[in-house]
Amino acid sequence: MNAIIVTGASSGIGRHLAFEFAARGYSLGLTARRFDLLQKLREELYSKFGMSLKVEIRSLDITDYKNIFSVLKDLNNSLGGITHVVANAGVAGSSRVGSGKFLHDKQVIETNLLGAMATVDAAAEIFKSSKIEGHIIGISSIAGFRGFPGDASYCSSKAGLTIYLESARRDLKKFGILVTTIHPGFIDTDMNSHLPYRPFVVTVEKGAAELAKLIEKKVEVSTLPRFPWGIVGWLLKRIPDIIWQRLKF
Ligand SMILES: NC(=O)c1ccc[n+]([C@@H]2O[C@H](COP(=O)([O-])OP(=O)(O)OC[C@H]3O[C@@H](n4cnc5c(N)ncnc54)[C@H](OP(=O)(O)O)[C@@H]3O)[C@@H](O)[C@H]2O)c1
Repeated sequence: MNAIIVTGASSGIGRHLAFEFAARGYSLGLTARRFDLLQKLREELYSKFGMSLKVEIRSLDITDYKNIFSVLKDLNNSLGGITHVVANAGVAGSSRVGSGKFLHDKQVIETNLLGAMATVDAAAEIFKSSKIEGHIIGISSIAGFRGFPGDASYCSSKAGLTIYLESARRDLKKFGILVTTIHPGFIDTDMNSHLPYRPFVVTVEKGAAELAKLIEKKVEVSTLPRFPWGIVGWLLKRIPDIIWQRLKF
């Protein structure tokens, strides 16, 4: 029986992923800070899939690092053993370097990098101690491929997470634990709906459906969607710095 924990399930990709995995028969452990939204989501899941669906919800701020370990252990017990953990929770909203918004940038790193690292570490500890060949999925971003202007803290949080997940994949392989890194492009959620330019944007329904398929296929690394971001991302990473610094955007 599969049981999946999704952090940041109160909105956007995490919320839609809950529907995708409920439809696939997984038990769900859903976390976020806005508990009222998780309660509403649980009601919607019950009305769509029936009361026999196992859904556990927990209030969790992923910058409260110690708490992540106890909440994940608690969910592992309540769900009768987890098989998958998606470190999805994250925030956007970087500012230009030198604009006096360092404390916000710090929050971005504390959430997207340290919070996700603690989630991955807590999941690995559970899988190792219960000898489960589990699956950990980290949601990075194509923003982690390069340093985009006006987005330094977000880009660096995701670049850091990508490298952390790459190391984790090697550390955990010998225990049969799979670590997947997903780099979404633009998925239409609250996080980016205010942006004037979102190339190749897809609906959150489409994004979550493709993400669930990639997870079930057990891919190690992928963009989301695969096309066109797989090609665009490959090119982005290879633009020489001398050209990157002169691009007008
Ligand atoms: N949408 C995109 O185009 C895109 C592209 C690349 C990467 N991503 C990544 O995908 C993930 C999901 O983003 P989204 O687009 O679905 O955005 P979203 O709709 O804003 O959802 C973000 C989720 O993260 C949770 N969250 C934020 N800070 C948290 C904290 N300190 N503790 C616990 N939960 C927290 C939020 O829940 P609460 O506020 O209730 O806590 C919310 O459920 C993020 O990691 C994001 O960086 C998204």
